[in-house]
Amino acid sequence: MGKTVVITGSSRGIGRALAEHYEKAGWKVIATARNASIAAFANSLADTPVNLLINNAGIFEKGEHTTALVDQFVTNAVGGSTPGNPAVVANISSGMGSIGDNTSGGYYGYRASKSALNSFMKTLSLEWKPENISVLLFCPGWVQTDMGGAGAAITTTQSVTGLSGLIDKAFGDLGMTGSYLRYNGDKIEW
Ligand SMILES: NC(=O)c1ccc[n+]([C@@H]2O[C@H](COP(=O)([O-])OP(=O)(O)OC[C@H]3O[C@@H](n4cnc5c(N)ncnc54)[C@H](OP(=O)(O)O)[C@@H]3O)[C@@H](O)[C@H]2O)c1
Repeated sequence: MGKTVVITGSSRGIGRALAEHYEKAGWKVIATARNASIAAFANSLADTPVNLLINNAGIFEKGEHTTALVDQFVTNAVGGSTPGNPAVVANISSGMGSIGDNTSGGYYGYRASKSALNSFMKTLSLEWKPENISVLLFCPGWVQTDMGGAGAAITTTQSVTGLSGLIDKAFGDLGMTGSYLRYNGDKIEW
């Protein structure tokens, strides 16, 4: 039987490119958009085994007023913290979630929300390893999307080629679980 992937935030950008990639590769793709009710969605999946969950949806707010901080936290950190039971959970974090690699400052809400996502998912990686479920954190690179802007360093195709290669590897190597990696496989400092 073919594999099934659930991808959040697939209306555009990296999520859309991931959905196109997995569809071409013959997967059953369940692409979610923001107006889906989480409870109804979970019910609709009750009988569908999900092999891969990609927590991709995210926002980047330049403003640092309280509402912007909370919005980013809810979408980027908490929104990715309640997955179901797939074999691989791939979280699209960001290099900006790294505390050790923060040399330029700014973007308080975005950085903190991605650091929180990293923390949630690192913990889940430990809890789910005995069940053979890998949980990974990725930086997709600086990508040409609405969020990254037209002047970003790489295309969605370059990013998705790297990410999907790492995800493939994770299916065969449980030792990768809990890793925080750039789309090209480089390790990122926590
Ligand atoms: N682009 C980059 O350079 C870059 C770098 C590092 C990390 N990232 C991460 O990569 C992921 C994808 O980014 P992108 O560049 O593809 O961004 P994008 O082009 O702005 O797309 C963001 C996606 O997330 C969805 N989304 C936003 N808020 C949501 C919410 N509250 N609930 C559900 N869905 C929501 C959007 O849906 P709508 O269409 O409904 O708004 C859209 O599908 C994000 O997690 C981002 O933080 C991107």
